[in-house]
Amino acid sequence: MTVFVKQNELKDYLKSFWDEKKSIGFVPTMGALHQGHLSLMSESLKKNSLTVVSIFVNPTQFNNPEDLKKYPRTLDSDVEKIKNLDSNIIVYAPTVDDIYEGKTESTSFKYDGLEFQMEGKHRPGHFDGVGTIVKKLFEIVQPNNAYFGEKDFQQLQIVKKLVEKYKIPVKINGCKIHREANGLAMSSRNERLSNEERSKASFIFKTISEAAKLFSKKSAQEVSNWVNDQFKKQNTFELEYFEIADEATLIECKRKNKNKKYRAFIAVFVNNIRLIDNISLK
Ligand code: PAF
Repeated sequence: MTVFVKQNELKDYLKSFWDEKKSIGFVPTMGALHQGHLSLMSESLKKNSLTVVSIFVNPTQFNNPEDLKKYPRTLDSDVEKIKNLDSNIIVYAPTVDDIYEGKTESTSFKYDGLEFQMEGKHRPGHFDGVGTIVKKLFEIVQPNNAYFGEKDFQQLQIVKKLVEKYKIPVKINGCKIHREANGLAMSSRNERLSNEERSKASFIFKTISEAAKLFSKKSAQEVSNWVNDQFKKQNTFELEYFEIADEATLIECKRKNKNKKYRAFIAVFVNNIRLIDNISLK
């Protein structure tokens, strides 16, 4: 399996695929790979001649320096996991300099308001960092398809908006959330949880699943109040936000409209580790 560290070497390799119009599938990641990432790769393998996976902890999307410092970096075991899945996958694991060429800054993006909701409110600059790196990676890899997990649902919508606005010729494929046996959404940050925290974190999915059921008979405000009460009854998890929002615009639901699709979104802190999750509301 080939691991490219330099974008020029990767581009030389990809040239024949571009020239021969062979389909390239791309899975951008920040490493610490789990089953969720591997499922994105499996999707890509099914549909494309070549699958490229990037592993890059992108500094410009971290609003919290401590989070960036503590973000798990496990390149060797990541490469091993990819090799076991399919030895034909190409890995691009660049240095910060190879990507940012001495100027580690993000560009400012407008995503028609999607950036002002939820994660955008709580993580200033985060989606500028995401837009910057995703656009750069798309320019390097020039994929036909790219795969993103629905756990970061707002990011998925933002990336769709990015390619629409910049007319980047890539199809964005959203893939369902993978969960641990207890329901906890798979995330690289789960690696930072203690065994006890990881097991207790089933509380997050249980709460939003219950909220989803309640939403069939209660208003968004009543469901939010109920979720807030559940968090007040325990002291392991601190609720940052719970919001029911329109899937397309991500604007908070004030009054239900039967023509709209809604989703519940949650962000929680446990011992300074930030976890997010979401669930579709029928
Ligand atoms: O979802 C992630 O892991 C990151 O935000 C991404 C899309 C790889 C950009 O750094």
